[in-house]
Amino acid sequence: MPKLKFAIIGSKNYKTSTVKSLVDEGKKLFGKVTFAPIDKIKLVFEDNQAKLLFRGLNLLDYDVCYPRLSSKDYVLGEAVLKAIAGSNVYCPVNLRSYQVTNHKYYTIKELSNAKIPIVKSSLFTSPDSAKQIINEFGMPVVVKTLSGFAGKGVILVENEKQLDSILDAVHLFEEFISAQKFVKGKNSDIRCYVIGKRVIGVKRIGKQGEWRANVSRGGSAEEIPVTKEMEKIAIDSAKMLKMGICAVDLIETKSGLAVIEVNFMPGPFQKYLGNLITKEMVEFLHKKALKRLAQNK
Ligand SMILES: Nc1ncnc2c1ncn2[C@@H]1O[C@H](COP(=O)(O)OP(=O)(O)O)[C@@H](O)[C@H]1O
Ligand SMILES: [Mg+2]
Repeated sequence: MPKLKFAIIGSKNYKTSTVKSLVDEGKKLFGKVTFAPIDKIKLVFEDNQAKLLFRGLNLLDYDVCYPRLSSKDYVLGEAVLKAIAGSNVYCPVNLRSYQVTNHKYYTIKELSNAKIPIVKSSLFTSPDSAKQIINEFGMPVVVKTLSGFAGKGVILVENEKQLDSILDAVHLFEEFISAQKFVKGKNSDIRCYVIGKRVIGVKRIGKQGEWRANVSRGGSAEEIPVTKEMEKIAIDSAKMLKMGICAVDLIETKSGLAVIEVNFMPGPFQKYLGNLITKEMVEFLHKKALKRLAQNK
């Protein structure tokens, strides 16, 4: 088998255990694996060509480049994804999917345009929108900062007074929010990892007294069988956003499953799933690289 090269570009705030797992799995299939945190990369233009330099290596000469970036990596993240797009390296994500998935409202809007079931959301830009929000969604209501993650930017609001002060605070930080109807009685959701054509279903349950199901907020995770409904929504969402790897988070509503968000760099929940997810990711990336190599010959 040809010795292929695999680069992982990490977020500024990368998680060591995730990176270690990807690198370990990577080493089983690839001839060379390099992990580069995005803030240690140098982006240069030479001879009309972009280069992503890390310790003297050009990551665009690799066979696969998997950027795992969050909204905290913007600016540089966008430049890196642009450079990757202009190169020959296989990358399972792209600039547009990065921009859309890091904007909770755009994600819902794009998916809704493609007729994918979503939890209806509206974007509010004025600090005086409380009445409008209540009219549209009732109380309690969920409000979300557009680029929050790990459950940190989502707030369950119980009354107008609270909503007013939250809107003021958000305005002060020049943030905007999207509002969503609160899906009651569920401190759980279903995460569908999409890795190529494969979907892996995971049920997350929030810890006691917590309405958010995020594992990083103390929730638990367990693999569940993938139903036709889950598979269709997950694959359609990934296709719409042109993502080879992502995770589509679903919540059960009265009218069926609906998307709440799509994750650009889904965590592998190693505590609950071991190396299941990272192994699937790496195997998929390796297959893609082999296919490319065969095509380019
Ligand atoms: N509209 C909603 N109704 C009920 N629970 C929700 C709703 N939106 C989010 N949640 C809960 O909050 C968690 C975090 O929300 P999410 O939009 O996925 O933000 P994050 O990017 O921080 O994970 C979800 O996993 C889910 O458990
Ligand atoms: Mg989420």
